[in-house]
Amino acid sequence: MQRRNLIAGNWKMNGLGQSLEFFEQIQQAVVSRPDVDVLIAPPATLLHRAASRAGRVLLAGQDCHAAASGAHTGDLSAEMIRDAGASHVILGHSERRTDHGESSETVRAKADAALTAGLVPIICVGEQEADRRAGREQEIVGDQLDHSLPDGGEFVIAYEPVWAIGTGLTASETDIASMHVFIRGRIADGAARRILYGGSVKPCNAASILALGDVDGALVGGASLKAADFSQIISAAG
Ligand code: 13P
Repeated sequence: MQRRNLIAGNWKMNGLGQSLEFFEQIQQAVVSRPDVDVLIAPPATLLHRAASRAGRVLLAGQDCHAAASGAHTGDLSAEMIRDAGASHVILGHSERRTDHGESSETVRAKADAALTAGLVPIICVGEQEADRRAGREQEIVGDQLDHSLPDGGEFVIAYEPVWAIGTGLTASETDIASMHVFIRGRIADGAARRILYGGSVKPCNAASILALGDVDGALVGGASLKAADFSQIISAAG
């Protein structure tokens, strides 16, 4: 089963100092890898402006509301994210599960809304450090998958162990490989689904992680803010 690699950058709540020349700066790496999909999730305030600069680079929102419209002050619907220029939306990131108390059921409702609006959800799962120490990582991730995924349609899964996010720690290649095999076996149409790894992916470790057979790309935080680093990660795609 041939699955295209996806190298995705999540800018999180950064962007004011982030020049949109970024898109021109990564252009050479993007053009030299026509076999790889490249995506950036800027803050929603930048989506519209980024859309005029992005070229072949796909754009994503970082969240959306489960409802199509209504009295939800401060929220954005999936259709609004799409209208601003995105084709994808990140859902269930651990920072939203923690900061906003999002349950897997909420993530699933948002994923359904995203599909209805024509967006491809990138659904994040991952265990806490204590879960892994207790040997419960598959139980936790399995439960998140069971309750976060829509019944069908196109979606991407990102495995992001929470303890590896922004810490400089990455899961070992053995642990990444075995979790990706586990995820593929747990979900419907597992052989066809793109499964990304996220958590301190950097130019120095990208090639070995992306070479793993069941890893179909990366969801990159900090290193996606620097065009040179992100370009190297694009070039390292397996
Ligand atoms: P870092 O690459 O900064 O660890 O962040 C990963 C992440 O959370 C991407 O969504």
